[in-house]
Amino acid sequence: MPIQAECQVAELVRLNDHAYSMTLETGEAMASQVSCGQFVHIKCGHSRLLRRPISICEWGKDTIRVVFEVRGEGTAWLSRREPGDRVDVLGPLGRGFDVSGKKLLVVGGGIGVPPMLGCAREAARRGSEVHAVLGFRDEGHRMLTGDFAECCRSMSVISDDGSTGRKGFVTELVEEFLRAQTCGTCDPVLCAGCSGRPVPPEVLACGPKAMLKAVAQVCRTYGVGCQVSLEERMGCGVGACLVCACDMADGHRKHVCKDGPVFRAEEVDWDA
Ligand SMILES: Cc1cc2nc3c(=O)[nH]c(=O)nc-3n(C[C@H](O)[C@H](O)[C@H](O)COP(=O)(O)OP(=O)(O)OC[C@H]3O[C@@H](n4cnc5c(N)ncnc54)[C@H](O)[C@@H]3O)c2cc1C
Ligand code: FES
Repeated sequence: MPIQAECQVAELVRLNDHAYSMTLETGEAMASQVSCGQFVHIKCGHSRLLRRPISICEWGKDTIRVVFEVRGEGTAWLSRREPGDRVDVLGPLGRGFDVSGKKLLVVGGGIGVPPMLGCAREAARRGSEVHAVLGFRDEGHRMLTGDFAECCRSMSVISDDGSTGRKGFVTELVEEFLRAQTCGTCDPVLCAGCSGRPVPPEVLACGPKAMLKAVAQVCRTYGVGCQVSLEERMGCGVGACLVCACDMADGHRKHVCKDGPVFRAEEVDWDA
């Protein structure tokens, strides 16, 4: 059951030119309910502004950490908070990732990177083998890579301009990773689980829709399960206003805030 609370800012740290990490003292009642990939809806200042959805990056016994980039008025207001200030938080909200797979590849692009850290840490804590592929616009947007390196078996970084990691798109690294997950003798695409094949991974991804669509396509090609976290503009955040409706492959519409933000890739109508 989501809780609305005035939460004290415990820490605000600037991660790069664009992103901030904010730790909120939410209390145990909210923090104890969090599961991987959920989000909080934060009231960003003036009453005319709606709440802003921000993924839960990490959580503790009575704290929640969010990492956000300044995009407009709401996130700019949030970035000006100071330790000791209070912010109105509603959460945890939404349905998150299933991290029960034995081998996981977490894929994050831009502001889709922070929620994947919580997933990676939680899955590693439960004993899964976790690998990460992270995409950034450029060096100035790189964040949290040290945290991923701590809990992941491997981590690769790619950027649009090559200023950090390799130059290119995350899908290239995802494809390389999946290609390597074959026995070495079968055709990598057609290898559908011969006895020599290692444990097939599950891919968990968050980022811009074009990136998610491309990752879903690569996973389909390799016959690998894929969960995606969608980003839509939101109003209420609890399934009451239809702002976040998105088209599904079966012709129905779902609420990203309540039915998602995480869906299985095959559920989504990628051409809508
Ligand atoms: C489930 C979910 C989780 C999110 N998690 C994070 C996160 O962990 N870190 C983070 O930095 N951001 C996250 N976002 C995006 C964040 O909500 C927006 O950046 C924020 O609402 C912008 O508010 P603003 O008032 O600063 O800017 P606005 O003035 O409202 O908008 C500025 C720009 O941001 C774009 N934008 C606004 N809302 C969204 C949205 N929901 N998704 C994508 N683009 C948007 C607008 O199109 C516009 O170009 C998440 C969004 C969703 C739906
Ligand atoms: S934001 Fe209102 S229904 Fe999803």
